[in-house]
Order: sequence, then C-alpha cells, then structure tokens
Amino acid sequence: MYSASMRESIAKVAATRERRLEEKHPRLTPDEKDALLRGFHPDFREDTQRPVKIGPNAGDSMPHELVNLLEARSVIDPVRPLPEPDLDVDVLVIGGGGAGVAAALTAHELGSRVLLVTKLRLGDANTMMAQGGIQAASKPNDSPVIHYLDVLGGGGFTNKPELVRALTSDAPLVIKWLEDLGCMFSKQPDGTMMSIHGGGTSRKRMHFARDYTGAEIMRTLRDELLNRDVPFIEFCPVLELVLDQEGKCAGALMQNFETGQFLVARARTTILATGGFGRLHVSGFPTSNHYGATADGLIMAYRAGGRLAFLDATQFHPTGVAFPEQMLGQLVTEKVRGVGAQLVNAEGEQFVFPLETRDAVSAAIIRECSDRGKGFATETGQPGVWLDSPMIERIHGPGTVRKELPAMFRQYERFGIDMSQDPILIYPTLHYQNGGIEIDEHGRCPQVANLYVAGEAAGGIHGRNRLMGNSLLDILVFGRRAGRHAAEQAPTVKVGTPSVEHVARFNQEVAAAGLGQASAPILLPDYVGR
Ligand code: FUM
Repeated sequence: MYSASMRESIAKVAATRERRLEEKHPRLTPDEKDALLRGFHPDFREDTQRPVKIGPNAGDSMPHELVNLLEARSVIDPVRPLPEPDLDVDVLVIGGGGAGVAAALTAHELGSRVLLVTKLRLGDANTMMAQGGIQAASKPNDSPVIHYLDVLGGGGFTNKPELVRALTSDAPLVIKWLEDLGCMFSKQPDGTMMSIHGGGTSRKRMHFARDYTGAEIMRTLRDELLNRDVPFIEFCPVLELVLDQEGKCAGALMQNFETGQFLVARARTTILATGGFGRLHVSGFPTSNHYGATADGLIMAYRAGGRLAFLDATQFHPTGVAFPEQMLGQLVTEKVRGVGAQLVNAEGEQFVFPLETRDAVSAAIIRECSDRGKGFATETGQPGVWLDSPMIERIHGPGTVRKELPAMFRQYERFGIDMSQDPILIYPTLHYQNGGIEIDEHGRCPQVANLYVAGEAAGGIHGRNRLMGNSLLDILVFGRRAGRHAAEQAPTVKVGTPSVEHVARFNQEVAAAGLGQASAPILLPDYVGR
C-alpha cells in the first residue's frame, strides 16, 4: 500500500531503529516548550481566532468557527409562545455519551424522575471512540495528589484547582464504580490492573481496555441504563434551553429529528452533556471526533447567560492518521507512544520526546513539517511524520502490536499496512475542546441557576491543555457529581413557566451588532457548505 517514495523514507526509519532503541530524546525545558508553542501551535496563529462581539464573553478571543456560531441567531422563532410542557421531570439530561449516561444513572439511583434526551443514538459520542485509557491513581507509588500536580502541569497551571481536586480525588472511586458495573479493563494474570504512562504523567496510571477503552466504558454504561429502565429519547436534539421568569433554567425545547415535532420538557434541574466542537474543524484541521460534536451545548448555554472558559485553547492530538487519506484525521492512540513507539522525521531522526504534553508534541510535528522541512509529504501533499510502531515489537516482543492495539492494527490492515512491521504516517488532528462552559465542583453553571454541565461541554478542569486519559475520567467524575447534586437539589426547586424570551433578547443583540447571517445550533456538521 505504501508508494515507492514512502518505502524509501521508511527504509531510513528502519535504518535508525536499533540506535534509537537506546536513544532517550531530551525533554523540553519550560522555555523551549513555550517558544515551541508560540511558534507552531495553531492557537497562537493570528489568523485562527477573533474576539466574540456579544454575550457574556464579549471581547474574548476564540476560534473563528466557534465565534461564527456564538454570534448567530437562534434556529427557532422565539417570538412564538412556547406550548404547554409535554414532559415534566426532576432531572433532564441532555446528551447520550459517557457524561450524560453517568449523570442519568446517578440521579436515577437517588430516586429522581430522570429523562435523558440525545441528538443521535444512545452512545453516539466521543466516549465511544476513546481509545487509550482513563487515568486514576490506584498504584502504591501514586496518589491523587501526584495526579493533581500532573493535571495542573499539563494544563500550564491555568486549571481551576477545585475542579482538578474533584477530578483526581474521585478518580479511584470511578474506576471501582466502573468495575462494579462490569467494565472489563486489561489486567495482569494476577488480576491487578495494567497501567502505562501517558504524555505528561509522572506515574503509570493509565488504565485501559486494550485500545477500545471508551467503547468498553460506553457499553457498560449503556447496558446499565437499559437494565435500570431509565427513560431516554433518541434522535431528539435540544434546540434551546428554556428559562423561567427569574432567568433560572427550567428545562429545554427539543425537536424530534424524524417527525419534526417540537417538545418542551419542564425540568427542575437540567444537565448539559452535549460534548465538544470537533466537527467545527477549527483552523481547517481534520478531526478524530464523532459526527455530532457541533458545540450545540455551548451555543445554548451562552444565550442563557453561561460564561465560557479556555475556549481559545484547542487540543490537536499529535497522532491523527495522515495516510491512507480515507482515514485522515482518525485517532492513533497515544498508547502507541505509551508502549514505546517514537516520532521520527522523513530522515529517520527522532525529533521530540514522544510523551511531552500533547500541545508540545503537536507543535513539534508541525514545526518538523513546516520550518524544518523534514516531514514527509504524500502524493496529494498531505504532510506527516512517522510513528515508529515496529519499535513496540522490538521492545516488547513479536505479536505485541496485534495484542495490545487490536483495533488500530485492524484499521491499518484493511489498507494493506502492517503497523507491526512498518511505521505509520501521522499529523495532528483536532481532538478536544480544552475549555467549555464554566462550572463549579458540583458541575453547576455559576451564572444560570438549576443548570449543570458535565463532560467536554464543561471548561476549567484541564486549563489550556488536557492530558490523555483525563477526559474519560472527567466525564464520569463530573457526570456523577452533576447527577448527584441535581437530584439532591431538585426537590427544593420551584420551576416557573418555561419561556424562550432570553433567546428573543439574544437575537436582538445579534441584530443590533449587525450579525446573525448564520443560525445555530447547527446540530450536524455542514460538509456541503464547506
Ligand atoms: O490517544 C488517545 O487514546 C486519546 C485519549 C484521550 O484523549 O484521552
């Protein structure tokens, strides 16, 4: 499947493998890392962002693709009064990925009347696609405090400390919860959990189920939701939150994707777990994200008054597929580097320590392919560098790639590439929205009463850069925390009449600023208009 020119470069990679086995590439100093990010990370390019003109974050810079939606008018006509609520619940959960299902299970367990609504099918979410693992300090040489320090370091010390404390102290509980529900992690023959390093971790605390960790976690959660008969509606995207006369969240307005019917759900508490913005293709990058990652929750919460944080920081995963182009942007899990693969340029030289934090590794790859001119460009001009996966077999023995990375191995095998024998060509891909809607340690949105946010839609936990394995963790920590708090608060909440007057006011602001050519949320990515 590889062309002759690719084979030539691959021969150079093979020629340096024995030498690289002994070669520890030096780590970046803080100054080198800073210069690398400023020089080559897309967040720092002047043409990738602009300040948003209206709403709670007016004046803050964010990617153009997101600002276009934040400055858009609503997809609904907010002048028409809302019909009587069709549904009345204690806790409304919006989103059917890991965070939403964890929230729904927790609230349901506490006796709340719960309804989960989701835009696509239950489990159609980034959770399902997560590969590499979930972090938790569960080994004798580790602790939540050490994990806490790693998370802060990864985020450039910008993270909200109380959220990091919640994340790292709940982590071992979350692993236990998953195991109790039947989640099958990879284990040693003696039954102890296997664990490896991720980029930026000082301890081996990445727990995994081979290279389909997210699918195994989502399977577990989905089975549990079905077993417990928690009510849910699929193919029913939320179009706007609804507020009462006091500006408190009172549920949501949604539309059945198939019939077009509008539905109003009145809720005492509402949990947004709508995921991130990967399908906006920030800065023109391909993405590892699922089809529904279109920032819907950010748009709705913003109109309701929620503040956004750290949305000027986008995570480009260093190792997205660059070849074959049928898989462009698809994730090649960090676990590949975690078990020994190195990043090597077209000349066969290692150019970065493979487990620097993701922002730095991505910037180093971009520099290698641009400034240094040492990347490999495919026949269509797609740049990339080599991820030397055969090194894994050299370190751990024959058969390791197929055993430890079965999903990845098969994906490449379909295109005639044996990644246990030949390196694979990769380039950064848009992977994660580092920021999101502001929350406190219970998942509450501080600006909008009765509204909670969990998962990738929430911001502040990871600061400017998330570490591998802390997203599968955060969806569960904050999904459960939001579910618990929302359920406990619900009996005390008096909901007024649901209305979308705030949307009408937002539309006026949009029009007064001369904006509003577009409408949002978009619900699905627009590949026709691109
Ligand atoms: O590389 C990965 O497997 C991705 C993991 C993550 O984003 O946490």
